[in-house]
Amino acid sequence: MSDNVIEIRNLSKVYRDFWGRPKVKALNSLSLEVKRGEIFGLLGPNGSGKTTTLKLLLGLLFPTEGSVRILGRPAHDVEKNERIGYLPEESYLYRFLNADETLDFYGRLFKMSAAERKKRCDELIQRVGLQGGARHRQLKEYSKGMTRRIGLAQALINDPELVLLDEPTSGLDPLGTRDMKDMILDLRKAGKTVVMSSHLLADVQDVCDRIAILYRGELKVIGSVQELLESREETQILTSQLDEATLKEVEQVLQRRGASVKKVSHPTSTLEDLFLRTVAESEARPGRRFEPGERPSNEKA
Ligand SMILES: Nc1ncnc2c1ncn2[C@@H]1O[C@H](COP(=O)(O)OP(=O)(O)O)[C@@H](O)[C@H]1O
Ligand SMILES: [Mg+2]
Repeated sequence: MSDNVIEIRNLSKVYRDFWGRPKVKALNSLSLEVKRGEIFGLLGPNGSGKTTTLKLLLGLLFPTEGSVRILGRPAHDVEKNERIGYLPEESYLYRFLNADETLDFYGRLFKMSAAERKKRCDELIQRVGLQGGARHRQLKEYSKGMTRRIGLAQALINDPELVLLDEPTSGLDPLGTRDMKDMILDLRKAGKTVVMSSHLLADVQDVCDRIAILYRGELKVIGSVQELLESREETQILTSQLDEATLKEVEQVLQRRGASVKKVSHPTSTLEDLFLRTVAESEARPGRRFEPGERPSNEKA
């Protein structure tokens, strides 16, 4: 079997108005492949065609031009959807069901037995962190973060080999975002293929193996995140703390070799990292407060 889980060829989508007149060219001649086992990111500002692309993959929309093969089938083949999980941009789950009932409902759609549904439901509730009181509350009482979690659990009910996530981290706070990113990375560990869309650059950079940048329905850049972001003309060396004398010596060695030191600095961590450490520290030691300029230690709490 081919290594490509998705093959998109010259895919275009024109939305028409009520009278059938062309209104918006949402996607213009998109071609790309997604390989088995990778996390692929569709990146682009609002309105660039990400949601349209995902819906075309699922066969929820009909393309104006071009073709899609997904899991070796054409997009309009509905049977393939049994092997796909989908988290839509907007939640469409029933507001009056609780988490258990929601997953049970979707389990029935996939014709799972009662015992199978129960087992899968317990497992998924645990996996997305909705155990405890949350699982018995109606979804209408859920926060945005909890809604995204139950949405992900729903998308995974049929243990799909391909998971399509439309803006999985949108509207989540940093803790929710970190959890969601970890859950996406776990999917890759479990051998799944993931396609996710986002306009949040950091989230895409953190989890995706390869990305495509869309702008106004056109593919502008595609490649591995590592290769796209790596600067080959420079070398970075990270060492333990160096004193002035050692730095001078290093500089001299480099000069002899025709190289130059462009910048000497201490590495900074990300704000996300600092935030998560602060929260962890506060959980561990509730009364503790940091002086201005002081910060939680680097060690995982
Ligand atoms: N049902 C629709 N009817 C008409 N235009 C649409 C429809 N859905 C999306 N569009 C338009 O198509 C373009 C791409 O939209 P979309 O795929 O939702 O982008 P993204 O998910 O990247 O924000 C936008 O200009 C949007 O307004
Ligand atoms: Mg969208």
